This record gives sequence, C-alpha cells and structure tokens, in this order.
Amino acid sequence: MRKIKVIILRNEQEDDHILWVKACEEYRNDIEYRVVNLTASDWLEEIQKEPFDILLAKPGGLTAPFKQLYDERIYILAYILGYKIFPSPLGIFIYENKRFLSFWLKANNIPYPATDVFYYRKEAFKYSEECEFPFVAKTNIGASGSGVRIIRNKIEAHKYIKDTFSGKGSPQRTGPNLDKGGILKRGFHYILHPSDILKKLDIYQTKTVNLQKGFVIFQEYIPHDFEWRTVRIGESFFAHKKLKTGEKSSGSLLKNYDNPPLDLLDFLKEITDRHGFYSQALDVFESERGYLVNEMQCIFGQSDPFQMLVDGQAGRYRFIGGRWVFESGDFARNGCYDLRVEFVLKKFAGNQ
Ligand SMILES: Nc1ncnc2c1ncn2[C@@H]1O[C@H](COP(=O)(O)OP(=O)(O)O)[C@@H](O)[C@H]1O
Ligand SMILES: [Mg+2]
Repeated sequence: MRKIKVIILRNEQEDDHILWVKACEEYRNDIEYRVVNLTASDWLEEIQKEPFDILLAKPGGLTAPFKQLYDERIYILAYILGYKIFPSPLGIFIYENKRFLSFWLKANNIPYPATDVFYYRKEAFKYSEECEFPFVAKTNIGASGSGVRIIRNKIEAHKYIKDTFSGKGSPQRTGPNLDKGGILKRGFHYILHPSDILKKLDIYQTKTVNLQKGFVIFQEYIPHDFEWRTVRIGESFFAHKKLKTGEKSSGSLLKNYDNPPLDLLDFLKEITDRHGFYSQALDVFESERGYLVNEMQCIFGQSDPFQMLVDGQAGRYRFIGGRWVFESGDFARNGCYDLRVEFVLKKFAGNQ
C-alpha cells in the first residue's frame, strides 16, 4: 500500500507543530509529510503544490488576529475546496474561542456555566446591576487562566467593563504564570536554553499589544476544587483531575490521577460521537446540576507521560461491546500525537 501523504499546517509560532512532526517520523513507514505555514501569504500555492491526502492542523492560541486568519483559511480549505482536515474544522473553530464555544454549547443544548457575551457597554452594566457575585469574566483567547478574572463586587465589575470598553483592554496576565508549579524547574530550563527566554518575552509582548477590547464574556461562578480533563483521541478515552491552585485549575499543572467515574466517560463519548470529534479534550466541572463543559480543545498540552491512571496503572478506556474496558499501556506518548496519527492512518488509509 502506498504511503499516506499529509501536510502539517503550522501556525505563526515556529515550532508549535513539532509534535506532529515527531509523530509522523514515528510512523514514517506509512506516512509522508511536509509542513506549510498556514499563516504565510503563499499558503494556498504551497498546499496545492503537490497532491496530498489530508491536512493536519495545529491551530495557534496566542492572538485573536492570527486565530481568525487560521480559522478563515481552514474554512476555505474544508468547505470551499473540500479537503480533509484533522482535527475537524469545527473542533478548530471552537478551540481558543470562548465566545464562539458558548454559542455552540447553547445551540446544542450541552450543559455549561451560563455565559453572556456583551458588545454593548450598556448591556454589560445592566448585567453587573442584576447579577449574583462573584461572577467570572473571561477573555476570548488566552490559555492557562491568564484571561480569567473572578469579579467579586460591583466596583470590580465596573472597572473591568470600563477597561475593556475604554480602549485599555480587558485585564489579562501577559507575563509568566506565577500560580503554575515548577517555577524553579522552568528557571533552570531557561538557563539551559537561553534563546527560549527571548521567545517567551516576545510572546508576552505580543499578548500585551493584543489585549481584548470592545466586548466582555461574563459567566456564572461554579464553585469547584478541581475540573476533569477528559480526552478522546480516536477510540481511546482518558480522564484526570486538574486541581485548583488559588482561584484556577487551568494552568496550575497540579494533577490528581483518581479513577474517573464511568458516567463521565459516557458524557465525553456522547458529545464527541454526536459531533464527530476524534481529537478532543473536554474540561468539565462537577456541579449541583451535574457535569458542565467549561472548555473544549482539539489540541492540548500534556505535562505527564500519561493522561490517566486507573488503580495506579497508566492506560486508556475503550468502549467495547456496550461497556467501558480499561487497557493498561503507554497510549499518551508524544503528547497523544502518536495516537492521533494512528487514528488518521486507520481512518484515511482505507479511502484513498
Ligand atoms: N465559571 C467558572 N466558575 C468558577 N471558576 C471558573 C469558571 N470558569 C473558569 N474557572 C476557573 O478558572 C480556570 C481557567 O478558566 P478556563 O475557562 O479554563 O480558561 P483557560 O484555561 O483558557 O485560561 C479554570 O480552570 C477554573 O478553575
Ligand atoms: Mg482551562
């Protein structure tokens, strides 16, 4: 059988797609790959230069202008030109777009914390007059808790609204995450890799000039000690807990590998089956109303070599013959990208 030909669609950050490359190298007997920068002006010529079977996306999550550019080109590639893209275009559009995600969750009747998006200062003020405190203000883009603020009273709410609509921009952390564990470890990393510091500083600067203006995202506050990070890649399912440090679970890197409840896997399977998501993380709160979806990411970081432990063993769940079956093993290696490539090979090798 001939090798399957893929193009990795990189984003504006030079090595952000490197795990796709590593995974394609791992499967080089079955796969041939090249890399195209989807944010460069010659993107389409480069893509169409030689035939290919499928496009592998690595959407960026740094700034709104690049996010929009990436999404628009994915739209053209998928819906105007009819190319196959993995992860799915919808998964990419939802990724790092909390505003769009809230519309999508609402339209699909998926349970999530009540969310309002206001483009009028007046509407935002009205909310702050009538809401319960605390509530949560979020920027549209900005991972690891950097754009999330707990608003405790009217004064804080008014300041947030004023900053956002007056041109200053929504309050957002643009520098290092001091909540994150392993500051020392990261300091050591930069001693060994000094050029990475410059890259980080560049990123901080880019974030500073791109602060969100003109709209706010306000959300009901959900009390929690942790959120579930649930993951589906192909037919493999995982879940672990992200623990809260300070006010946030996201970006803390503090994990707990308790056995996940099986009804949580049902919840994940139901949503991903229905919408055809085969590279998907769902961050889930356990609330009085049951499970609520907080975030959805088709590409996500991974700080440990595994995504789940069950009775202390690393492995995955699969749904076989109507029930959940645990299989121990090393399924999350290379940040789950090997599993993604395995899925792409299985799914697309057959229909050439
Ligand atoms: N509605 C909410 N109520 C209470 N805490 C929240 C809420 N939304 C987010 N948080 C806390 O803030 C953290 C970061 O928010 P999240 O929406 O995951 O943004 P991101 O991970 O992109 O920064 C979450 O992990 C959670 O601990
Ligand atoms: Mg999060």
